[in-house]
Amino acid sequence: MPKVDLTTAIGPVGLKNPVMSAAGTSGHGAELRQYMDLSEIGCLVVKSLAHFSWNGNPAPRIVGAGPGMLNSVGLQGPGIANWKRDYLPGLVTAGAKVMISVWGRTVEDFALARVAIEDLPDTVVAVEVNVSCPNLEDRSTMFAHSSGATYDVLKQFEGFRLPTFAKLSPNTHQLVEVAQSAIDAGATGITLVNTIFGMRIDTRTRKPLLGAIRGGLSGVSIHPVAVRSVFDIYEALPQVPIIGVGGVSTGLEAIELILAGASAVEVGTATFVEPRAMTRILEEINQWCDENEVSSISELIGASHGQ
Ligand SMILES: Cc1cc2nc3c(=O)[nH]c(=O)nc-3n(C[C@H](O)[C@H](O)[C@H](O)COP(=O)(O)O)c2cc1C
Repeated sequence: MPKVDLTTAIGPVGLKNPVMSAAGTSGHGAELRQYMDLSEIGCLVVKSLAHFSWNGNPAPRIVGAGPGMLNSVGLQGPGIANWKRDYLPGLVTAGAKVMISVWGRTVEDFALARVAIEDLPDTVVAVEVNVSCPNLEDRSTMFAHSSGATYDVLKQFEGFRLPTFAKLSPNTHQLVEVAQSAIDAGATGITLVNTIFGMRIDTRTRKPLLGAIRGGLSGVSIHPVAVRSVFDIYEALPQVPIIGVGGVSTGLEAIELILAGASAVEVGTATFVEPRAMTRILEEINQWCDENEVSSISELIGASHGQ
């Protein structure tokens, strides 16, 4: 591989390279061990976990959508306690750097999730707080559609021993305000973006294709939305560390997010199509930097601003 300095940092968290996995797109993480060395990527983000176990939404939960996909998995998971017992040891053995992701339906759920993750091993270097999930205390919205609700959730992690990243939804016209409220509440940085609301209908039966009717669009189609979201937040809050995610399936798409302002990039849907996608994307980033005389990936962070 060419000699490019791929090291980066998301706030206080140093990474050997900018390629991360996106929450919920590589099982609980250890499943990927059969395809790649998990210690080779910058960081592995696990599927969002709650303090309770949850079976998720009714099937069908995944349908194709052009070059992307629509899912309504609904944050199925074993709960934090069972995950620590059944899945975390495999990640420790694999030598992965792990970011745990947590979710909840109420602010209290997030407070209980914080308590449940107090005692994680050093393998876990940060927490992604997934506020892009339904807020059952205000049925009209997700937490991440409201500055107030986002603030209340992130406040539960204030003073936590690990850095926290608020994972935001692009389905709002108030992205900057919501990001600012997460930072005001003590978040270290912002992850952008979660899926975009979508829906498909079976023309034969005239019924929605997903069991939960509506779902989240991901993959190549949402990449421009992710680039715009990262660009907007970097422009408004240039000191805030950003993790970019959305439709990254090539090294070039990852570099676009970095140029928009991301310090690291998560890969999601591409891994469903090609389990080794993260390794290939990392090689492509390295190759592109070499060909374009970029000696360090950090030169590229936010470099599209002011051009
Ligand atoms: C099947 C599926 C499950 C997902 N589960 C989660 C999750 O548990 N927590 C979360 O924050 N995001 C979840 N996401 C969103 C991804 O992490 C990512 O933000 C989104 O898919 C956009 O990236 P992509 O286009 O590279 O997939 C999920 C996405 C998919 C497709």
